[in-house]
Amino acid sequence: APIQAPDLRNCHRPDLPDTAPDTNCCPTYRAGSSIIDFRPPPASTPLRVRPAAHLVDREYLAKYERAVRLMKQLPADDPRSFEQQWRVHCAYCDGAFDQVGFPNLEIQVHNCWLFFPWHRFYVYFHERILGRLIGDETFALPFWNWDAPGGMTLPAIYANRSSPLYDERRDPAHQPPVLVDLDFSGTDPNIPRDQQIDMNLMIMYREMISGAKKTELFLGQPYRAGDEPDPGAGSFENVPHGTVHFWTGDPRQPNGEDMANFYSSARDPVFFSHHGNVDRLWRVWRGLRPGNTDFADPDWLDAAFLFYDEDARPVRVRVRDCLDTATLRYTYQDVGLPWLNARP
Ligand code: C2O
Repeated sequence: APIQAPDLRNCHRPDLPDTAPDTNCCPTYRAGSSIIDFRPPPASTPLRVRPAAHLVDREYLAKYERAVRLMKQLPADDPRSFEQQWRVHCAYCDGAFDQVGFPNLEIQVHNCWLFFPWHRFYVYFHERILGRLIGDETFALPFWNWDAPGGMTLPAIYANRSSPLYDERRDPAHQPPVLVDLDFSGTDPNIPRDQQIDMNLMIMYREMISGAKKTELFLGQPYRAGDEPDPGAGSFENVPHGTVHFWTGDPRQPNGEDMANFYSSARDPVFFSHHGNVDRLWRVWRGLRPGNTDFADPDWLDAAFLFYDEDARPVRVRVRDCLDTATLRYTYQDVGLPWLNARP
């Protein structure tokens, strides 16, 4: 059977590393608010185009910063507030929810086949809330285009100290113009820029093409109701998804806060742009393969989660509702795929 949406009333303290501050990750629960089932936006909704973060103009940036500022100003217990938004990630990733019917088993959306769809919905609702806050239904989050040379640094828009997009808990040695290492394992390679770019492109080729020929290899291993968490990540989840988290977080913090630990990663606004690219590359991977690359298994298709939407209503979503981004009325700026022929 599929993993069911958690019962919000049964949220408890997460399992955090000992050195992490005691953190409550449970989303606001409002007794009496009834859960609605997700319906895709009407087909007439304008398509939102997510831009590459390193290519946005000043007008877009002003709008995005205003939206994040407003989100940060909402009362902490408003389900749409920035505080609540990052907690959602912590709750689904650090064991704050039990599986419905299995009180000894947590819900974990990483290291399994729920990774891509869960994060797609998470970013989707975050984006819809930001759009609502500025009264712009066409607002689309930027994506961190780390798979192309022009996007291989922390996007400059996040590095401005006076911006609401800034987060001080990041690695000071990994600020622009330092290039990201998509294979980062804790030490900087210190190789010439051209070489780092080539290495990153080869890693992309491996993760998207040569090592991702089968659905489980890319999307991750089956995880059903009653299963122990962490059956196995798709290779992309570890590299480059995980390595970019690790590279961005602050090594002076006990757990690489913010980006390098589950509980804290979504406190950094760049999280949503990092996951924009992860989401985009799922779409690209799917598009590169003829035939159906989705799991046909109903335990995947009917796995369900809960998110608060832009009206602060709890919405039950199923994996099958998110497979086509056009149905969700968004797409990505076309920036090319420079790794497509980067066969080592
Ligand atoms: Cu839920 Cu990038 O991790």
